[in-house]
Amino acid sequence: MSRKVTAVAPSNIALIKYWGTSDLERTLPFNPSLSMTLRECVSRTTVESIADPKDEVLVRVAGGSLQPASPAFSAGVRNHLDHLRSWAGVKDRFRVATENSFPMGAGMASSASGFAALALAVVAALDREISAATASVLARESGSGSAARSVMGGYVEWPSAGTEGAAVQVLPADHWDLRDVIAILDTTEKSVSSRAGHKLAETSPYFKPRQQQLPERLTEVRSSLQSRDFARLAPLVEEEAIDLHLIAMSSRPPIFYWRPATLIVLELVRAMRQGGVEVCATMDAGANVHVICTPEAEMAVVEALDVLPEVEGVIRDGVGSGPRMIDEPLF
Ligand code: PMV
Repeated sequence: MSRKVTAVAPSNIALIKYWGTSDLERTLPFNPSLSMTLRECVSRTTVESIADPKDEVLVRVAGGSLQPASPAFSAGVRNHLDHLRSWAGVKDRFRVATENSFPMGAGMASSASGFAALALAVVAALDREISAATASVLARESGSGSAARSVMGGYVEWPSAGTEGAAVQVLPADHWDLRDVIAILDTTEKSVSSRAGHKLAETSPYFKPRQQQLPERLTEVRSSLQSRDFARLAPLVEEEAIDLHLIAMSSRPPIFYWRPATLIVLELVRAMRQGGVEVCATMDAGANVHVICTPEAEMAVVEALDVLPEVEGVIRDGVGSGPRMIDEPLF
């Protein structure tokens, strides 16, 4: 029998993006990626082993009561639990309850934080001690590659080779207090999953040129983070985000994640930067824009986004120090 444990794991925003898998089954990426771990957008997950023959999966939405998860959500959790059971060599079944600090179905990716929290909670419930690298591999085996980076705080790199697929922290959170003001523009579920996007990436004629450019861009991004050089970082982050969407839009068949509002926010961010504000923008596989800025620029960014009619809401986030275990179970 395992203990009841609760893990809190953060989401992350990639500055260099994972887009395209070299091994879809093991969720291994074509190229390295580098992200900033967030502190406000988190998943809280409680697990306990149960005597039932089946796992039980519950979710809590918007502070309501715990409800049985949808069949699709439960299937994703059970699939990850199977990986974790196989790694641990156990047959335990679990009751799992989870919630996100950010609105579910608001077009915000929750798989990174959700699967990282699930992996950490199950490992702790089974009383296993693991390294951060093992946690990263276990989180990644959920099928969400970005979960590999959510088990560590600060600035995290997920190399594409030579590490068994584990991410590493390159800089701690207190190195540079960057903020991420997330402009919520589209709250509908995306029509093409990132898994499907990863599979199609190689069909883009721009995929190979991107792979050739990436090592230099990654080195530049890492080094501008190290030297806290926002002016150098900003154009690289935007180029990289546009590159991901260029690959998506030119895949066969094409995938369009942007909405007209995405361009409006990109324009605003550029204009602000030209006006001397330390701000830049990036997007994941979705329409919402993560507006990265310095603490000094944050209020101006929030105010400018708040008045745009296209912006449905703003989440103020920033770099965070990673997951933690807490004593506040969901059941
Ligand atoms: O973690 P996945 O498999 O859902 O893929 C996420 C891919 C991006 O969010 C678009 C980029 C990234 O590196 O996080």
